[in-house]
Amino acid sequence: MDVYALFISPTGNTATAARSLARGLADVVGDGDFYSIDITPFEARKGVYDFGEGDVVVIGVPTYAGRVPNKLLPYLQESVQSCGAKALAVVTYGNRAYDDALKELCLTLDEGGFDMVGAVACVGEHAFTDKLAGGRPNEDDIGALYEIGKAVGKTLKKDSNKVLDMSILPGREPESMEYYVPKKTDGERAVFLKDMPLTDETKCNGCGECRAICPMGCFRNSVTNPEGTCIKCQACVKVCPNGAKYFDSADLKEHIAALERDFANNSLEIQCFLIE
Ligand SMILES: Cc1cc2nc3c(=O)[nH]c(=O)nc-3n(C[C@H](O)[C@H](O)[C@H](O)COP(=O)(O)O)c2cc1C
Ligand code: SF4
Ligand code: SF4
Repeated sequence: MDVYALFISPTGNTATAARSLARGLADVVGDGDFYSIDITPFEARKGVYDFGEGDVVVIGVPTYAGRVPNKLLPYLQESVQSCGAKALAVVTYGNRAYDDALKELCLTLDEGGFDMVGAVACVGEHAFTDKLAGGRPNEDDIGALYEIGKAVGKTLKKDSNKVLDMSILPGREPESMEYYVPKKTDGERAVFLKDMPLTDETKCNGCGECRAICPMGCFRNSVTNPEGTCIKCQACVKVCPNGAKYFDSADLKEHIAALERDFANNSLEIQCFLIE
């Protein structure tokens, strides 16, 4: 079998999780190697990916507001397709909850023609703050994900026709899925939908790394004056080698403070739902 890891991963957690699963799979059903397809940057989502029989694809996204990131979901729906390929879904989330994200991803892939063989949710350092799950996925998580990939591979080797019973997945039915509403410390709604990252121009040397990674193409015309729709993924903030990018809105800061207050002490293990 050919094994793939295909992922959207602005701050790297989902890439780590998807690759760890793919490594385990490839060691059992492949030749130990897998193809890595990073569809995070805007420019990487121009083409269509069509997988076929004999392919097993680990497909990963981060959880945003308890769902698959809404601005990126249409690409998965329209351009990641299968005719007989198998998929192992993975979502990462930042110590709060993954709510409907894993089920939504699995239903999307199923609709796209994949035979689902598993679904995994893994905690990852929150893109907004390292006080939530800082450093995860850590070495233990990576080892556990590798073993999960191997376990799926072993089951497939015994019976390649097995498919996941999707009814065991946590999450609401599609018609009642809702986006999590971010709150401030006083419980009021935090409003930062229109925020854009700012740039300290005394630190920016124009290297273009933010332009290369932004999933929404916000820096196409200027690395200091972003345009279009920003999904607050924090990729530009984390990638900037000079610490020049930052968000400054009071509501976003208040939301982060509320998350740190409410979810920093969660200790969440990897959850998986697999073919048996
Ligand atoms: C806009 C946004 C919304 C998020 N919403 C949630 C959420 O609802 N629940 C949660 O636990 N983590 C949430 N997170 C944290 C991410 O899911 C987590 O950091 C994820 O591992 C990031 O993946 P990446 O490193 O592949 O980009 C959110 C992060 C961002 C940037
Ligand atoms: S990554 Fe940082 S230094 Fe490089 S262009 Fe962007 S803001 Fe400037
Ligand atoms: S501009 Fe917004 S969407 Fe683009 S990388 Fe930065 S935070 Fe993400």
